[in-house]
Amino acid sequence: MAWSGSVFRLAAASPSVQAVATMTSSPWHATLLSLYPEMFPGPLGVSLSGDALNRGTWSLEARQIREHGLGRHRAVDDTPAGGGAGMVLRCDVLSAAIDAIGADERPRLLMSPRGRPLTQGRVRTLSGGPGVIIVCGRFEGVDERVIEGRRLEEVSIGDYVLSGGEIAAMVLLDACVRLLPGVMGKAESGVEESFEARRLEYPHYTRPRDWEGRAIPDVLTGGNHAAIARWREAEALRITRERRPDLLEGEDA
Ligand code: ADE
Repeated sequence: MAWSGSVFRLAAASPSVQAVATMTSSPWHATLLSLYPEMFPGPLGVSLSGDALNRGTWSLEARQIREHGLGRHRAVDDTPAGGGAGMVLRCDVLSAAIDAIGADERPRLLMSPRGRPLTQGRVRTLSGGPGVIIVCGRFEGVDERVIEGRRLEEVSIGDYVLSGGEIAAMVLLDACVRLLPGVMGKAESGVEESFEARRLEYPHYTRPRDWEGRAIPDVLTGGNHAAIARWREAEALRITRERRPDLLEGEDA
């Protein structure tokens, strides 16, 4: 069976930049436990998160759970107690992988469709801490005893089922990393503030002024900034009402 036997680390491309970053504060650190560590950094290695990784603003380490597997075949899973389909990740194997990280104050998350839904508020809290340890589940599930015994916080990224927790972990990491100091430019900032204000974004336009018979709304090209602000607020409310009325619950709007 092909498996990566070593800890996979992503080093900053520019050691001098990382040295400066670590002198001032230790970078936000993500440790992943996965059966497919080679999936990382994946999309996190490009654009905002990739640039921040290269600058040493954050660091990522993807560890192979199978290193703690049992026997010649490094088995990590077994059949479910009580019968049924699929396989269950063993508690002794996963706890060994977690314990090998050593004493650590970072929150331990388990990506799972039965977890609490991830919110921008939770992302902001995680981003403001020292980093995260994330277990990426596979198979039918993870033995409940290791979730309890290692106090894993189950997190879901939505009401659908992925084939494993890796892509869900990437979603969570992307959301956290973009909030780290210095990662977002002026252009990208502000969107999540509007989300935390329980409103979806208003529509955006740019040149050309007319396209296929559709014109930019006059108010946006008229130069009246108060009118523009009112229009954007009204549009944000209209779109939120249409698509996510749940965000407005408890408001008079
Ligand atoms: N693993 C599989 N599906 C998932 C989901 N929706 N959220 C988090 N982890 C998952």
